[in-house]
Amino acid sequence: MLPVLAAHPAGTDVRGLLLELDPELSGRARRTAGSMGLRSVDVRTVDAGAADTYRDVGRAHIVLACGVFGNLSDADMRRTVAALPALMVPGGIVIWTRGRGLGAGDRSDDVRDGFAAYGFLELAFVRPEDARFRVGMSRLRKANGARLEPGARLFQFL
Ligand SMILES: C[S@@+](CC[C@H](N)C(=O)[O-])C[C@H]1O[C@@H](n2cnc3c(N)ncnc32)[C@H](O)[C@@H]1O
Repeated sequence: MLPVLAAHPAGTDVRGLLLELDPELSGRARRTAGSMGLRSVDVRTVDAGAADTYRDVGRAHIVLACGVFGNLSDADMRRTVAALPALMVPGGIVIWTRGRGLGAGDRSDDVRDGFAAYGFLELAFVRPEDARFRVGMSRLRKANGARLEPGARLFQFL
C-alpha cells in the first residue's frame, strides 16, 4: 500500500491508518512511510481486534482487511464484518482477502456471505483457478447503526 500511495499524485494527501500488533513490523512500516514522505500515514502498534483501539479513529472511505480473516474463527470473522460499518462512511469500500482453506469447500465464500449479511454490496470478487488466494471488494450500502461497544473484542488470531 505504501509504494502505491507514494507513486500516486495525491498520495501524500491521503490520510491512512495502519494497525499492526508486532512492533518490528509496525516499526518497519512507520520508517518506510516516513522515507516515502507519507506524512499523513499513521502506523500504530496496537491490537486491531480490540474495539477500544478505534475510539479516536474517524470513519474510513477505504478499509483494507487483508491477511486477517483466514486467521480467525468463523464467529470472530462474522463479528468483525458486522463491526466494520461502525468504522466506515456510508458508501465506503472494504478490500479483503481470504485463502480458500484446506478442505473441500472454499472458506472465502463464508466471508462473502458475512459481507452480504451485514449490509455490503459485493463490487468484485477474484477467485483465480490456479491459486488459493481470493480477494473481495465490498461497498457499505448505507449506515446501519452498527457501533463498537467499549471494551468489546472483535477478533483474536487463532
Ligand atoms: C497474514 S499477516 C497480514 C499482513 C498484511 N496485512 C498483508 O496482507 O500482507 C497478519 C498480520 O496480522 C498481525 N496481527 C495479528 N493479530 C493482530 C491484532 N490483534 N492486531 C493487529 N495486528 C495483528 C500479525 O502480526 C501479522 O503481521
